[in-house]
Amino acid sequence: MKAHLLTTILSTLLTVGAAQDPAQFVNPFIGTKNGGHVFPGATLPWGSVKAGADSNSGDNQAGYVSDGTPITGISQLHDDGTGGSSSLGHFQLLPLTNTECADYNLTKCIIDRSSRAIGHGDPTASPGYFGIPLNNGVNAEVTVTQHTALHQFTFPSATEQHLLLVDITSDLAQRYSGTGHATVAPNPKTGGTRVTGSGKWIPSFGRDTYRTYFCLDTPTPVNHAYYYETSSGQTSYTHLNKKSILDKDIGYHGPAGVLMGFPSTETEHTLSVRIGVSWTSPERACAYAEEEIPDISAFDGVHKAAREKWNQVLGTVEVDATGVSDDTQELFWSSLYRSYIAPTNVTGDNPLWESNEPYWDSFYCIWDTFRVIHPLYAITAPIAQAEVIRAVIDVYRHTGFLPDCRMSMDKGFTQGGSNADSLLSDSYVKGIKAGIDWEVGLQAMFKDATAMGDFEVEGRGGINSRARLGFVPARDSDHPPSSGANTRSASRLLEYAYNDFSIALVAQGLGRTENTTHFFAKSGDWFNIWNPNATHHGFSGFIQPRNADGSWYFDNRYDSGMVFRPDHCSPVFGHNDCYGGGSGGEFYEASSWEYSFYVPHDMASLVHAMGGPDTFSSRLDTFFSAGFHDMGDEPGFLPTYLYNYVGQPAKTVDRVDESVAKYYSTAVDGLPGNDDSGSMGAYAVWSHFGFFPVAGQDTYLLNRPYFPKITFRNEVTGAVATVIASGLSAENKYIQSATLNGEAYSKNWISHKLFSEGGTLELIMGASNDSVWGTREEDLPPSLSTGGFGAWVSRPSSSSAGELLEGGAGQDESLAVPDDVAPSGRNFFSYLIFLLLAD
Ligand SMILES: *[C@@H]1O[C@H](CO)[C@@H](O)[C@H](O)[C@H]1NC(C)=O
Ligand SMILES: *[C@@H]1O[C@H](CO)[C@@H](O)[C@H](O)[C@H]1NC(C)=O
Ligand SMILES: *[C@@H]1O[C@H](CO)[C@@H](O)[C@H](O)[C@H]1NC(C)=O
Ligand SMILES: *[C@@H]1O[C@H](CO)[C@@H](O)[C@H](O)[C@H]1NC(C)=O
Ligand SMILES: *[C@@H]1O[C@H](CO)[C@@H](O)[C@H](O)[C@H]1NC(C)=O
Repeated sequence: MKAHLLTTILSTLLTVGAAQDPAQFVNPFIGTKNGGHVFPGATLPWGSVKAGADSNSGDNQAGYVSDGTPITGISQLHDDGTGGSSSLGHFQLLPLTNTECADYNLTKCIIDRSSRAIGHGDPTASPGYFGIPLNNGVNAEVTVTQHTALHQFTFPSATEQHLLLVDITSDLAQRYSGTGHATVAPNPKTGGTRVTGSGKWIPSFGRDTYRTYFCLDTPTPVNHAYYYETSSGQTSYTHLNKKSILDKDIGYHGPAGVLMGFPSTETEHTLSVRIGVSWTSPERACAYAEEEIPDISAFDGVHKAAREKWNQVLGTVEVDATGVSDDTQELFWSSLYRSYIAPTNVTGDNPLWESNEPYWDSFYCIWDTFRVIHPLYAITAPIAQAEVIRAVIDVYRHTGFLPDCRMSMDKGFTQGGSNADSLLSDSYVKGIKAGIDWEVGLQAMFKDATAMGDFEVEGRGGINSRARLGFVPARDSDHPPSSGANTRSASRLLEYAYNDFSIALVAQGLGRTENTTHFFAKSGDWFNIWNPNATHHGFSGFIQPRNADGSWYFDNRYDSGMVFRPDHCSPVFGHNDCYGGGSGGEFYEASSWEYSFYVPHDMASLVHAMGGPDTFSSRLDTFFSAGFHDMGDEPGFLPTYLYNYVGQPAKTVDRVDESVAKYYSTAVDGLPGNDDSGSMGAYAVWSHFGFFPVAGQDTYLLNRPYFPKITFRNEVTGAVATVIASGLSAENKYIQSATLNGEAYSKNWISHKLFSEGGTLELIMGASNDSVWGTREEDLPPSLSTGGFGAWVSRPSSSSAGELLEGGAGQDESLAVPDDVAPSGRNFFSYLIFLLLAD
C-alpha cells in the first residue's frame, strides 16, 4: 500500500517533472563540427565555469570537436561558438593509467600536450553534464555550479592506482605568458590534497593579458605526487610525498603542472575532483569551491541542481508540441539552450575595478549578439538582460567606452559599428530598467558617436571625416590616435547610421529633443554612399564605398575595369576577403548586395531608392537565388524577413522556412557558421517563435510559429504572452488573419507590449499564400520616412538640403536641421525632421 502510494506520488512528480523538463530535448552536440565551434560541455546558464573535454583538433575553439580526434584533457573554462583562435581551455585534468604512465610511475607519464591525447568513445552531454569514455578505460564525467566544476573519473576495476594530470599553464591556443604559480598541500578541511595554480595568458581575440586561478580539492590525500616543468624539451620533476608542500613560481617557459597518484581500493573506482575557478585570486577560487560544492562526493546532487537551473531558465517559454516532430523540438530547445551559454555572469569576480554593478564577460562579440541574443533576453530573461546592460554601462564608466567585443576581461577587436548603442536602445525601448542608469547609458552612447578612441577595440573610426563629409571615406586617413584598421568603411557607415538611430530613440525617451533630432538626422547618412548608378545582375543602386573627394571607390583587387562588384565578399565571390585587419575589404563579413538591404530604421526609403516594392521584392528573390546571401554571418539574418516591408509576409514565411531547412539541423554539423555565442542558434529560436526582432527598435516582424501555441512568462512583470497558431499544419503555414487580445490585427509586425504587459496573439493559419492579411500600406512595419518611431523624417533624395528645408518651412513642429549635418559635396541630402509630440 505504502509502496503503491509512493509509486503514484513518484509517477505524478515525474509527469509534472517531464512537462517542465525542456532539458530533455537539448542536444549540446549540434554545431560541434564543421566550424560551428559550439561548446558542448557542462555549464550553468551564463556560467563562469564551462567544463568540457578538449580535442586535439585544429577546430577546437570551444574545446570538444565531433571529429573523432583524441582528448588532451578536460578543462574548466571555454567560450562558445567563437571565431578567432581557440579560446580559454585552462587547467586541464587528464586521468591516466599504466597505459600512459608505465608501471604507474608518475615520472614516466606521457605529458606533452599533444602526445598525451587519448582516444575516446561517444561522449554524452545534457544541460549541466558532460561525460566521455576514454580509451584508457577511464570514464570521465563533469558537472558544474557557477564557478566550480565537479569531476568524477571512474577507473577500470583492475587499476592499481588512480593517476591524474593537472595541467596549470596550457590553454587551448598555448598563449601562456608567464607569472604562474602553483601550490600543493594537505587540506585539513577535506582530509584530502589541495592544489592551486594560476598564470597569465593572451586572450583569443584581444591583445592584452588576463589571469585566472584555480583551487582543486580531492577527498583523499595523494599517495605521492610530482610537480613537473618542461623547458626546452627537458622535463624536470619535484617529488612530493603525502605531506610535502609545494609553493612555487612558474616562469615563462613550457608546460608545468602536477601529477598525482591515489590509492585504488577493491570497491572504490572513482576519483572525485572539485575545482573552483576565479578571475580574481586563488582564495576566491577556493571560497567558490567550498561554498558551491561543500561535499566533493555529491556528484548526482550537483548535477540535478544544474539541470533544474537550466529548466528554470529554459522554462520561461512553454510550447504546445502537438503535431510537432521530436526533431523540431530538439532543434528549438537546443538552440534556446545555446542562447544562454554566453555572456558569462562573473559579478563579484572582476579583477579590474571595484563596483556595485554587475560584471558580465564573454561578449564575443556584441556585433553578433545584439541582433538576436539580447532581444531574446528582453522577452525570456529580462533580469539577466538588465544586468548585462548595467555591466556594459559600467565598462563605459571604468574604461571610457562601451564594449564591442569583450572577453577574458579584455577589450576585443571591434568588428563593425558601435553596436552596443543598438544593444542599449533595444532594451531601452522595451522598458528594461531595473537598476539601470539610462542617463549614463545615453552619455555612453554619445561618447561612441563623438569621441574617437582606439577604434580597433572601442568606439568608432572615421568620426572626424564623417562629421565633415557625411560618410566614412574608404581608406580614411584622418583617424589619429586610433590604431584601428581603416577598412570596412561602407559597412561601418551603415552600422554607425543605425547606431545613431538607436541613440536617437534613447534620447527621445529621455526627452532630449535636440539630441533626438540630431541623431535621427545622422541616421540618414547611409544614403551618402548609395550609388544609384551602380548596377549588378539587373538591379541598380547599391551601397558603394566612397573616396574623401566624393568620387566612388573601386578596389582594383576586385572591381576590375572600374566596375564595382557588389557581390564581392558574398559566398560566390571573394567570400573570405572580408574580415578585420588591414587587408580586409570595405564591407565586413558580407557583400554590398547584403549590406545594401541594411537600413532597418527606414526601409521605406530604401524600398523607394531600390525602385519600389516590386523591384525590392524581386531583388530580394535574386539576392537569395543567385547565392549572394550569406547565412553564415549575422548580417544574413534580417534579410530573410524583409518581404514584410513590402507587404509580402507569405514570402517571408517561405524564405524563413527555406533558411531553417537549408542551414539548420540537429546533426553535429547542423549550423551555417560559427555559432557566435549562440547567435546562429538564436535565429532558429526566433524562426520557431514566428516573429523576429529588428534589433535596436521595438519591432518584431511576423513569419509563422512552428508550434500551435507558445507561452512566454515575463519574469519581471509576471505578464503572460501567448501566441496561438490556429490550424497550423505542414500546409497551413500562412497567416490568413489575426487577432491581438481579441481585436482584429492586420499588421505584419508586433511590438514588445505583448511581452511586457501580456496578452494573446492569435494567428489563423491556412494554406493560401495570397491572403490580404499584412499586405496593405498600413500593415507595414515602421520606417522613419513614413512616420514611424514618433518622428516624421523626409525621404532622402538627391535634392539639396536647402530645398528640403524650404519645403518644410511653415510647419510649426519643424525643427531646423543642425548645421553639422548640413550636406556638402554632391548627391548629399539631409533628413528633415518633425518630432511627433504624441508618442
Ligand atoms: C620511476 O621512474 C624513474 C625514472 O625511470 C626511476 O628513477 C624511479 O625509480 C621510478 N620509481 C619507482 C617507484 O619505480
Ligand atoms: C549574476 O551573479 C550574481 C552574483 O552571483 C547574482 O547575484 C545574480 O543573480 C546573477 N544573475 C543572474 C541573471 O543569474
Ligand atoms: C545634446 O544636446 C545638448 C543640448 O540640448 C547639446 O549641448 C549636446 O552637445 C548634445 N549632445 C550630442 C552628443 O549631440
Ligand atoms: C549617375 O550617372 C549620371 C549619368 O552619368 C550622372 O549624371 C550622375 O551624377 C551619377 N550619379 C552619381 C551619384 O554618381
Ligand atoms: C504563392 O505560391 C505560388 C505557388 O508556389 C507562387 O507562384 C506565388 O509566387 C506565391 N505568392 C506569394 C505572394 O508568395
